[in-house]
Amino acid sequence: MKFFVDTAEIRDIREMADTGLLDGVTTNPSLIAKSGQNFLKLIAEICEIVPGPVSAEVASTDFETMLAEGKKLAKIADNVAVKVPLTPAGLKVCKHLSDNGTMVNVTLCFSPGQAILAAKAGAAFISPFVGRLDDISTDGMQLIADIVNIYNNYPNFHTEVLVASVRHPMHIIEAAKMGAHIMTCPPSVIKQLYSHPLTDKGLAAFVEDWKKTGQSIL
Ligand code: G3P
Repeated sequence: MKFFVDTAEIRDIREMADTGLLDGVTTNPSLIAKSGQNFLKLIAEICEIVPGPVSAEVASTDFETMLAEGKKLAKIADNVAVKVPLTPAGLKVCKHLSDNGTMVNVTLCFSPGQAILAAKAGAAFISPFVGRLDDISTDGMQLIADIVNIYNNYPNFHTEVLVASVRHPMHIIEAAKMGAHIMTCPPSVIKQLYSHPLTDKGLAAFVEDWKKTGQSIL
């Protein structure tokens, strides 16, 4: 399973990249606004830090402007994935850009039918939002299971399932059990994956017992 980090904070991205476990980055207009940074410069900087796909989202909603924005974003670096909304115009942009060799991440997916459309439009990634479905008392993980199952039925679909709006470690674990290709989440959720009280307890005991040996490895 590939790990993307869902943030526009350079410090967080560098910290995650240092772990050696980071495969890509996703951003969205809300995260860019929160960062207070210049969008185009920020994406260029992120693309230099992380060699994997870096999602940069278009800002418009009409076909012509979205296509122009997508082409401009794609020129920033080879690893930019242009992010478009799951609308008729967004999928038309997806088809145009994908046909020309640009990676496209189709975002704001909330149903299996929408995911089928994105795959047919040649999307490199489909981003189903699990947390936002959970927020409205709908099973977000069921959507992931449905999309993975549907895509597996069609070997000519090359779209990777990028589980988004991930809020806690169980979303990641369940998505991995289902065979989702990628998940994206805030750095705090990735950090939670490391933690287990028995790891802490066990390590403390090993450190204490090692001291009793009076030895040094180095
Ligand atoms: O970047 C898209 C998605 O991950 C947003 O998550 O927590 O705002 O629903 P969230």
